[in-house]
Amino acid sequence: MRIALFGPPGAGKGTQAKLLVERHGLCHISTGNILRAAIKKRTPVGLEAKKYIDAGQLVPDAVVRDLAEDAITEQDCRLFILDGYPRTVQQARWLTSFLDARGTSLEAVIFFTLPDDVIVDRLSKRRMHRETGENYHLDHKPPPPDVDPALIVQRPDDKPEAIRERLRVYKEQTQPVEDYYRRQGLLLEVDAVGDFEVVYERIEDVLRVHAL
Ligand code: AP5
Repeated sequence: MRIALFGPPGAGKGTQAKLLVERHGLCHISTGNILRAAIKKRTPVGLEAKKYIDAGQLVPDAVVRDLAEDAITEQDCRLFILDGYPRTVQQARWLTSFLDARGTSLEAVIFFTLPDDVIVDRLSKRRMHRETGENYHLDHKPPPPDVDPALIVQRPDDKPEAIRERLRVYKEQTQPVEDYYRRQGLLLEVDAVGDFEVVYERIEDVLRVHAL
């Protein structure tokens, strides 16, 4: 299976990617995770990216493209889930030609749909384990009591001002990617409102219908 998870910030892409990876044994390529790891290691790319990420803006295409290319080629991923990539039409076009040159292509793009108020709730109540990167939600998936509360932090880009900017950037720069894949017949819409497992089953259903 070679799929991309696409949708607004906080839609649940990372959460569902983890479940799909565990159950289907695929490579998980999350540009957000790769960038956060680079920030943690204080690499030049990480330090450059941090300014954009904390402000809720997209990291320049060229930077993220190199990371995506490295992730796909280094892990020699034939079967993968892209999570958070592509998110501009330029990135989508590059990905098409990059995969084409490797004699392969995306099989589906799962498009998470949900209203803005649910997005804001999910982002503003998300908490992250500083060491493991595990995500929690204060209401729906609270951090377990045995985890040291000092290790549970809020992502800088989950602060209200950055959330507003991420939604604006999504509508302006990322939403056009929806049309790009719709025209190619690859877009599979999934209602992302509901319990974790309910959303997961909807994804499995659309994948099954398309024999993936
Ligand atoms: P990235 O980390 O990819 O951010 P994002 O796309 O905005 O996605 P999020 O991680 O915010 O949310 P998600 O959809 O994965 O939701 P999650 O599962 O965590 O990227 C961060 C930044 O890096 C970008 O803003 C940009 O600056 C940069 N970047 C990354 N890729 C880039 C690219 N290609 N080009 C340029 N820049 C790039 O869930 C959210 C919360 O909701 C969690 O608390 C979770 O527990 C909860 N939740 C999930 N599902 C449910 C459910 N069904 N019910 C209740 N709660 C739920």
